[in-house]
Amino acid sequence: MSARLTGDETALWQAAARVLDANWTGTATVPSPGLYPHQWSWDSAFVALGLARHRPERARRELLSLFRGQWGDGLLPHVVFNSAVARHGYFPGPELWCSDRQRAGPRGVVTSGLTHPPLHALAALRLHECAPDTEPSRDFLARLYPKLVAQHRYLAEVRDYEGTGLVSICHPWESGLDNSPAWDRPLAALQLPPTAYAPHRVSRTLPTGEDYDRYVWLVTLLRETGYSHDYLREEHPFAVEDPLVNATYLASTHALAELAAIVGGDAVPHRERAERVHHAMLDRLWDRDTGCFRARDLREDRLLPVVTVASFAPLLDPELPAATVRNLVDMLLSARFAGAAGYPVPTCDIQAPAFDRGGFWRGPTWINTNWLLWHGALGHGLTVIADLLYGSTLRLVRQSGFREYFDPFDGTGRGSHDYSWSAALVLDLLGARRAPRAA
Ligand code: GLC
Repeated sequence: MSARLTGDETALWQAAARVLDANWTGTATVPSPGLYPHQWSWDSAFVALGLARHRPERARRELLSLFRGQWGDGLLPHVVFNSAVARHGYFPGPELWCSDRQRAGPRGVVTSGLTHPPLHALAALRLHECAPDTEPSRDFLARLYPKLVAQHRYLAEVRDYEGTGLVSICHPWESGLDNSPAWDRPLAALQLPPTAYAPHRVSRTLPTGEDYDRYVWLVTLLRETGYSHDYLREEHPFAVEDPLVNATYLASTHALAELAAIVGGDAVPHRERAERVHHAMLDRLWDRDTGCFRARDLREDRLLPVVTVASFAPLLDPELPAATVRNLVDMLLSARFAGAAGYPVPTCDIQAPAFDRGGFWRGPTWINTNWLLWHGALGHGLTVIADLLYGSTLRLVRQSGFREYFDPFDGTGRGSHDYSWSAALVLDLLGARRAPRAA
């Protein structure tokens, strides 16, 4: 493999770098210029992966800026609001969450009260690997490491409701795959009060109407209990162990162990935690009958029926047994996913009734889920799969630009333009070929 980019790759690199530069606010990167004007948590982790290859100093600021929003109990919120944006300029804005009225809420910044897939330790480690042995990187890790430990402690102590080793999400938005068909069943089971909470005018590209009432009602329940840990564990009606959230948690727990070794911390508790999560994912989320991972609804104590792209995220587990990896690869290459999509990987099983090629997280291909599977495939030496994902991802952005998501059959771009993680992860993919050290 050549260490140099081709002319076409250089043009792509420059275009991606321009998107990230344009979306930089001075302290953080907005996911897209119009639609998402604040800082989102897992977006910032993906953005840091790309900035690591382009402007590492900015990548460090991106992550530190996000952690300004960390709550006293360790929760890393999924949105940190930009005070320069009009208070009612985005729904749901600060008024829904009331973080400034919570005992554990951060001071000096307002945030949401939900969390997001915990990719940050992994991003911090890769960022360091792009510039190892430099003083700014070591100083940065020394500052970030205790915050990452607090984030993971919150997940282990507050979100592992049944002591299984896995963390639960309390809202579809915490999965990052907000409107995934995986959540249809638990959302449909909610007993909604006869009031509509959401404003009537929300962006047309986002889910609307009754979905939104359910989303907002779940937040209202949390807020009214003061985001109580006991309430979350015992009563909150949405409690799901998701394979993608837990796979990112596992990958980041392994990264934390490596970071501990770099900053002089204790790696042992992180290694022990990783071991537990690995076993729990296989025991609780692996479905022998269909040969893939599925989300578990804790309130019903059963696996949720729809197979989505999240089912492949446990490829991020470096210890996944070879037979399990083979099952996942078979499913991934089948006509239910990559085998029948010109631009894989669709976010939902193409043969599922809920599949919708244009629906938000209900079928389209997203760059970040492709990146997660690419990274997982490389970890297992699955170079053919990694090349498939690399090629599909670059074809999408070459054809349609750095869009938010894409039609999995013909690659048409959808959602917002100049979407930050689409650009950032292309930088990481191209950078990994040029300097594979952090691939
Ligand atoms: C949408 C996505 C979510 C992302 C956010 C900001 O809500 O579903 O995953 O973090 O946009 O880009």
